[in-house]
Amino acid sequence: MFELMDEWGPEKVVCVSDSRTGMRGVLVIDNTARGMGKGGTRMSPSLSVAEVARLARVMTWKWAGVDLFFGGAKAGIRFDPASVDKEAALRAFVRLLSNEIPSEYVVGLDMGLTERDAAIVQDELRSRGAAVGTPAELGGVPYDQLGVTGFGVAEATDAVFPLAGRRVVIQGLGAVGRAAARRFVELGASVIAASTSLGAVHDPSGLDIDRLLAVPDDSAVPAYAGGEHLPLGSELLIPTDVVAPCALQDVIDASLAARLSCSFVVEGANMPTSVEAQQVLAARGIPVLPDFIANAGGVVAAAYAMDARLSPFRPDPAAIYATISTKLRANAQTVISASSSAGTTPHQAARSLAESRVRTAM
Ligand code: NAI
Repeated sequence: MFELMDEWGPEKVVCVSDSRTGMRGVLVIDNTARGMGKGGTRMSPSLSVAEVARLARVMTWKWAGVDLFFGGAKAGIRFDPASVDKEAALRAFVRLLSNEIPSEYVVGLDMGLTERDAAIVQDELRSRGAAVGTPAELGGVPYDQLGVTGFGVAEATDAVFPLAGRRVVIQGLGAVGRAAARRFVELGASVIAASTSLGAVHDPSGLDIDRLLAVPDDSAVPAYAGGEHLPLGSELLIPTDVVAPCALQDVIDASLAARLSCSFVVEGANMPTSVEAQQVLAARGIPVLPDFIANAGGVVAAAYAMDARLSPFRPDPAAIYATISTKLRANAQTVISASSSAGTTPHQAARSLAESRVRTAM
């Protein structure tokens, strides 16, 4: 946490807790130089203030990287799903937070939160604030349903590492990983391995995406008949063209980076690759497309969702996909070419692009 107390932020950290539900929550507003803080709310049994602060900083770079006028923020709710009613915990979090900081933060979706949860947030807020990611029936832009983040991950990859005929390994078949899997295949790649928190599956001739995605998230891999079932984590070491971590942070460290057998890494998840791992991969000639460049499809859709709240017109999903594709492809190209001409890692190039925009606003 303290390593993040620097020239950029955080500007505000608010902790709330509720003894009735056992909920503990935190909001970190990192930097609002370019606009009000917006970022997803993560709900998980294990979550720290430091983790939420790191994610809020990623949001600062993500909004600036995609050149949209919001600031970096993130919220996290720690709760035990075995003993706590999730809806009650979420309502307690929203109520307590909106008492503390009325309308300074816009709640969006992150790991562990669904469109239904966004509807609960909106119901709890009523006129006191905004939630984005609500279902279409409630006037929202349903970006889970549209799979905008995963769509953008595959689009950004294709712009700098054309996917036709390539093989992709995906870690995490949740909101991001599923939509990415679908788009990777539409762009001509085959997904040869995938995992959820329950296990992994590998088929060198390509998994049947329709069958894989037809079963629900956390049972997807064990329920998939066919392919070879593997121990968790081993999928990342399968020889492939692209590795796409789309689940957790901190999954590729320097030692794993030295053993990856791929030509390209795209960060679908936030912060899956350590700084040391990025350097090891750069030295091996393997570019890593940074999270805040590759997974910014969700924030582009969130910007549409914010606009939609003020307008009687619903945005056309085709326009959202087109904007994501154009913006993310251009960004990926800018970052990869800046990194090769400056001899830096793509992360360093992306960070300097985002930093210069935030510094100008500050
Ligand atoms: P999710 O909760 O929908 O899915 C996470 C998936 O990861 C689940 O399928 C789960 O089974 C899997 N998983 C968990 N532990 C695993 C392990 N050890 N090995 C393999 N798979 C494992 O979460 P979501 O929304 O897809 O988010 C994933 C990542 O993408 C997170 O880092 C999140 O911050 C990031 N992200 C999500 C965005 C969104 O629009 N949902 C936007 C930008 C980033």
